Amino acid sequence: MSHQFATEIDELIRARYTMLYVVTWEEHRARKLIGSVADKQQKPVYQWSITNGLYTANIDNAPMSVDSNPRQPLEVLQKIQTDENEAIYILHDFYRFWEEPDVGRKLLDLSRSLKSSRKTVIIMGPVLNLPEELEKSVTIVDLPLPDYNAIDHLLTNKIIKSARNFTVNLNPEEKDKLIKAAIGLTYDEAENAFARAIIDDGTLNGDDINIVLEEKVQIIRKSGVLEYCPVDESISTVGGMDILKEWLNKRERAFGENARRYGLPQPRGILLMGVQGCGKSLLAKTIATSWSLPLLRLDMSRIFQEYIGSSEQNMRKAMKIAESIAPVVLWIDEIEKAFSGMTGNSGDGGTTSRVLGSFLTWVQEKTSAVFIVATANQVQGLPPELLRKGRLDEIFFVDLPSLEERKEIIAIHLRKKKRIPESFDIDTLAKLSAGYSGAELEQAVIAALHDSFFEDREITSDDIARNIDVTVPLSETMREQIDAMRDWSKDRARSVSSTPFNLIEE
Ligand SMILES: Nc1ncnc2c1ncn2[C@@H]1O[C@H](COP(=O)(O)OP(=O)(O)OP(=O)(O)O)[C@@H](O)[C@H]1O
Ligand SMILES: [Mg+2]
Repeated sequence: MSHQFATEIDELIRARYTMLYVVTWEEHRARKLIGSVADKQQKPVYQWSITNGLYTANIDNAPMSVDSNPRQPLEVLQKIQTDENEAIYILHDFYRFWEEPDVGRKLLDLSRSLKSSRKTVIIMGPVLNLPEELEKSVTIVDLPLPDYNAIDHLLTNKIIKSARNFTVNLNPEEKDKLIKAAIGLTYDEAENAFARAIIDDGTLNGDDINIVLEEKVQIIRKSGVLEYCPVDESISTVGGMDILKEWLNKRERAFGENARRYGLPQPRGILLMGVQGCGKSLLAKTIATSWSLPLLRLDMSRIFQEYIGSSEQNMRKAMKIAESIAPVVLWIDEIEKAFSGMTGNSGDGGTTSRVLGSFLTWVQEKTSAVFIVATANQVQGLPPELLRKGRLDEIFFVDLPSLEERKEIIAIHLRKKKRIPESFDIDTLAKLSAGYSGAELEQAVIAALHDSFFEDREITSDDIARNIDVTVPLSETMREQIDAMRDWSKDRARSVSSTPFNLIEE
C-alpha cells in the first residue's frame, strides 16, 4: 500500500511537527494508514467531526468517555490542549471552521503549545484551503492515489480472489493493462470501476479495460480543471514543420523504461511560439495521436475560476491528475494569457504568481511522463522563467509556411474535402499565397467550395486562386507584430521548418 504516505506521517510526527493537513478524498484509506503509524508509535488515535464530536478511532462512532463530548471546534481544541494523553487527533473537515477568528487563533496557539507535548493534530479534508496566518504552522501532506502495486493488490487479492459469481479471464498482459487503466482513480473508485466491469457481462476480461478507462474520463471531467480531448487527427494532417516532426519522431520511444535504462531523461515538453493560424494548436493535438498517448488539455483560465476551487488547489489538482494518468500529453493552449496577469499589479494578492510559480517548479521537477505542449502567439507576458533552458526541452518558432509548405497545406485541405490534389494547379496556388497562414489557405479552399457549389459545378484551381486574391492575410495587417516576434525568436527559439518562410525571396 502507499506506505510512502505512512512513512512521511511517521517521520513528521517523530520530528514533532504538531499540525498536519492531509488533503484527500479518501478519508477511509488515510485513516487506516494513520492508524498503522499510531500503532507503530503506540499512541491512541482520536477523531473529531462536527456531527460526532470526539471519538476513539478504533471503536468507530463511540463517543469519548468524557462527561462532555466536545462538539464545537473551539471545545475540541481546548480539550486537545488540556488532554494528558500522548495522542494523534484527526479533525475532519476542520477547514470549514478555521476561518472563524477565534478558531483560527486557538489553532495557532495550540500549534505552539503542542511543540512541547507529544500530541499531533491531523486536519483532514478533500480540499486544500489554508488561511495565510496558518501557513507556517501547518504542514501539508498529500495522500497519493493508489499506485500500480496497490491497484494490483486490490485486483488480485480482493476482486479476483472473491470471484464466485463471475469468471475471470485475463492473461498477464490484459491484467497489466487493466491495472494501468485504473491508475489515477482512488481506491474506492477503482473498486467501483472493476465492479462495474464485472456486472456488465459477468466476466472480467480484456474488454473491461475500456470500462475502467471510461470511469477515468468521468473523473477528469468532474475535476473541472482538465479536459480529456479525444483526437483523431494524425500528424499527417499538418503541413510543413519538418524539423519539429523529426524532433518529435525521435522522442516517441523516450517515455518507456528502456529509455530510462539507457540514460535518457524523461522528455518534459515544448513551447510552440508563433504566428496565428499556422498550426500550433493543430500540431499540439496530433502529437498525442502519433505517440498513442491520451491528450489532456489544461485551460489556465479555469485554474483561476474561483467557483471551481481556490486557484492553488485547482493547479495542484490538475498536476496530480495529469501525473496519475501519465504517460500523457498535457496541452496548454495560449499559455501567455495565464501569465499576463503576473506582471504589474494584478490586484489578486500575488495568487497568480504563486500559482504559476508552483506550475513552473512542477514543470522542472516532475519525474512522471507528462509531456507538456504549450502554445503562445505573443511574446509579451511570457515570463523569462518559462523560457529558461532546462525548463522545457525546446522552444520552437512556427512561422508562416514557406512555398513548399503551402503546397503541402493546400493539398492536405483538398484531400480533407475529398478532392484529388493532383487535379489542381497546386504550384501556382502556392506561389499566389506567399504570406498566407495555414488557416487562411484552409479558408480559401472552403470559400472556393462555396462558390462552385453555389454555381452547381465542381471546384477548380481558379476558384481557389480568386479566393486567395481577395483575402488580405494577417501577415499584412499585422506585419509589425509578426516581424517583432520573428526578431525575438531569432536567437531564442528553433525554427520548425528547414525551409523557413522568406517573403523577399518569394
Ligand atoms: N501547417 C498546417 N497544416 C495544415 N493545416 C493547417 C496548418 N496551419 C494551420 N492549418 C489550418 O488552420 C487551422 C487553424 O490553425 P491552428 O488553430 O492550429 O493555428 P494556431 O497556430 O494555433 O493559431 P492561434 O495562434 O491563432 O491559436 C487548423 O485547424 C488547420 O485546419
Ligand atoms: Mg492556437
